[in-house]
Amino acid sequence: MPSEARSSSSARPAEEALEERSGDNLYPAQLDVQFGDHAMHLDVPAGVWNPTPHGAHLGEMLAGCDFSGEHVLELGTGCGLHAIVIAQQGARALTLTEIDQAILDNARHNLGKHEIAVPIHTQVADWTHVNGGPFDALVTNPPFCKSGKRYRRHFIDTLILDAHKLVRPGGRLLFVQSSMADISRSLNLMRDCGMTVSVLGETSGPFRAYYDEDPAFLAEAARIPNGYSVRDGTRYERLIAFEAQLP
Ligand SMILES: C[S@@+](CC[C@H](N)C(=O)[O-])C[C@H]1O[C@@H](n2cnc3c(N)ncnc32)[C@H](O)[C@@H]1O
Repeated sequence: MPSEARSSSSARPAEEALEERSGDNLYPAQLDVQFGDHAMHLDVPAGVWNPTPHGAHLGEMLAGCDFSGEHVLELGTGCGLHAIVIAQQGARALTLTEIDQAILDNARHNLGKHEIAVPIHTQVADWTHVNGGPFDALVTNPPFCKSGKRYRRHFIDTLILDAHKLVRPGGRLLFVQSSMADISRSLNLMRDCGMTVSVLGETSGPFRAYYDEDPAFLAEAARIPNGYSVRDGTRYERLIAFEAQLP
């Protein structure tokens, strides 16, 4: 997964821009997704991240959250599945970021299909380098396995460390991560930053097929205490959705 923002001033057609992005989990799909009462049909073209169990777990948790009257920032919105739920759960405005304008155009398409009427601001931005704010809440499913960084937790750590630049005092940070990204490390970092942390919910699921294609990832995961478990020869990760209130 590329991790650097591409200029939005490019004149390339959107399809061409997306097709240049290749890699696992960037295949085209049409998905029926249900989070709580929120049913959606998503168009995911080639080059846009295909929602995984991590995103699905976050979506389920967001369906139980109240965003009434909030301006919510989502980093790395992908096809926009969480943005739809956040708007339907009462947000008054959304700011969505991605690394390429064509991905944001697709998210807008999916939001339009679901008749999301609140103001939607989109921004090509490299992770926490976002204009505007402070926002009432920040939501994200950060890159991890495919972060493309030697220090794989880069996006999780910078999210927590920079949250105070993006979220108002007393606002919320909501995100999902795998047990293989070290749950204690995130909890400690959020608490060191003065946040009050709760777990919105936890689930577990078998390894994604692409984990096995990255021996370095598997070796790192094996060093994380309780990073994964093995049942009947199948390895399972836990997926945790956090809600942290900023000081
Ligand atoms: C794990 S995917 C989540 C996508 C979507 N929210 C979901 O749950 O299906 C991470 C997303 O972050 C985007 N991304 C990667 N590097 C980024 C960066 N430096 N700044 C902003 N977004 C980034 C990717 O394009 C991808 O859509």
